Amino acid sequence: MVRINPSILAADFANLERDVAKISNADFIHVDVMDNHFVPNLTFGLQMVQRLQEVSTPPLDVHLMIDDVDRWAPDYARTGASSVTFHAEATENPVQLARTLRALGCRAGLALKPGTDEESYLELVPEFDQILVMTVEPGFGGQSFMVSTMPKVRRFREAADRYGVETWLQVDGGVDENTIGIARDAGADTFVAGSAVFRSSDPAAQVEALRAAAGSHSH
Ligand code: DX5
Ligand code: ZN
Repeated sequence: MVRINPSILAADFANLERDVAKISNADFIHVDVMDNHFVPNLTFGLQMVQRLQEVSTPPLDVHLMIDDVDRWAPDYARTGASSVTFHAEATENPVQLARTLRALGCRAGLALKPGTDEESYLELVPEFDQILVMTVEPGFGGQSFMVSTMPKVRRFREAADRYGVETWLQVDGGVDENTIGIARDAGADTFVAGSAVFRSSDPAAQVEALRAAAGSHSH
């Protein structure tokens, strides 16, 4: 099973409803929330996500690149988002927050920056519905895919298989038709793509091209 989640970070912020409608064939809409503290960039917040939830056909996959996730993540779950992913670097108690999100009926996700060691998080895989391995430094779209993060993807895949859980394994950053197969081979099953989708003249066709490119690989 391959999931393609276009990131609206690369969409036209003045025409988000129009751009989301262009990718109704996506599995989820990836929504990058940035606070200019956790990352050096600022996007949008709770009200924007609430409104997107109302106009989007595919469910929302919210990626929080913010501090104070214990304060904010539950509110994003209450918007009705399908998943809320927070960063391991932003909380002291990821398991407690994951349980809070799940209790709200939301899928809980844990994200790791490229420089964050995965060792202490492998045993937490059963507490999460998805793990997001960042394949660029979070903060900006349009960066190059870091192949150096693939061992981390493999280790999370091994952990999920060892625990026998259905936790999805997501990659985010620099994913395109050339790199998606590398991530798929490492064990990823959920692919975020911003520039690759929205710089295309036909975003929906690009979603299907990514799906096909990932589908031709297996892990
Ligand atoms: C980066 C964001 C990504 C970004 C990916 O911090 O988390 O979701 O939109 O953009 P591309 O696909 O252009 O690398
Ligand atoms: Zn993201």
